[in-house]
Amino acid sequence: MRRAATRIDGLGTTIFTEMTALAARTGAINLGQGFPDTDGPDSAIEAAVAALRGGENQYAPLPGVAVLREAVLAHQHDFYGLEPEDVLVTFGATEAIAAALLALCNAGDEVVVLEPFYDSYAAAISFAGARRLPVTLRPPDFALDAEALRAAIGPRARVLLLNSPHNPTGRVFSLDELSAIAQACIEHDLVCISDEVYEHLVYDGQHIPPATLPEMAERTLTVSSIGKSFSFTGWKIGWCSGPAELVAATRTVKQYLTFAGGTPLQHAAAAALSGARGYLPGLRDELRAKRDHLRTGLAAAGFRPLRSAGTYFVNADVGSDAVDFCRTLPERCGVVAIPTSAFYDDKTAAPTLVRFAFCKHDATIAKAIERLATLRPHQ
Ligand SMILES: Cc1ncc(COP(=O)(O)O)c(C=O)c1O
Repeated sequence: MRRAATRIDGLGTTIFTEMTALAARTGAINLGQGFPDTDGPDSAIEAAVAALRGGENQYAPLPGVAVLREAVLAHQHDFYGLEPEDVLVTFGATEAIAAALLALCNAGDEVVVLEPFYDSYAAAISFAGARRLPVTLRPPDFALDAEALRAAIGPRARVLLLNSPHNPTGRVFSLDELSAIAQACIEHDLVCISDEVYEHLVYDGQHIPPATLPEMAERTLTVSSIGKSFSFTGWKIGWCSGPAELVAATRTVKQYLTFAGGTPLQHAAAAALSGARGYLPGLRDELRAKRDHLRTGLAAAGFRPLRSAGTYFVNADVGSDAVDFCRTLPERCGVVAIPTSAFYDDKTAAPTLVRFAFCKHDATIAKAIERLATLRPHQ
């Protein structure tokens, strides 16, 4: 039988799957994957149970259940003063991004992405038959070089895929940086897909949605989800909002990917969003304290942690090849982490950086630090 050459070749086993398997095999503390080990608000869990018991168990309407769509619109207005024309509920932010790229890109089109980038981006761009145009953010501060952004934009650029607060760097882009991005989108007539899943996990500074910048609301599809903001990553309830035309195109693709699902959890997500003002400040303070705990501990253990203004992650310089370092870390001291180069096309940009997740119990962080301190990487 002839083996089909496909555009997913090269997207197979990644360092992420390798590290997750290593964590399972060795029983190491997993600071690799970004999910919290504490669940979100009880009231949202109760709302999920009530929806299950209350008969909300059949297909949701394709655009999502009305209460969640209304809650997302209210959230965009309350937090940012935005008034999106339409909203679509998806299976996590991941499906919104993939469906939007499939809807917007023809084969051969180009998608501008700031690297390092979340791993599903490369796959989704590839599924669309498009090509990525990376703009490299470099340590230690991962600032956007506006000149490099301008230089990267090719003749078939159609979309700029942005993520702020940014995984894996923890960067929260400034107004100046976002203005440069907005200018590039306007000049080159690009659609901005803005992945804001960490919008509420900001510890220093402020999250600025690109759709709030002049002339950007009409060209931005804003994506978010319940996972990070409410510590329910397993629910996979996400959404996108923005101009009617962009949402409609994304909805058309989504209709044939998965149609609609997670009906009871859509109701629960609406309940979570309606309690956002009461819940989010506490979560943010808790995560800020965990970030500080991990950063201080890493520094005391002889690592060189970089700043992180948001998300679940701190990067640290280990002073040697980070891929080798991470592959041997579980055996050497019982901790799993991810080499930051896994998120880059340019493997030379951050060869000695390792990403650690801090969304874990304090005792887990303390134990991991104790173990890492036996390594003294820079000595
Ligand atoms: C930048 C970024 N976007 C999207 C996602 C996935 O979001 P969801 O679980 O809502 O699909 C993640 C999860 O780690 C992420 O880090």
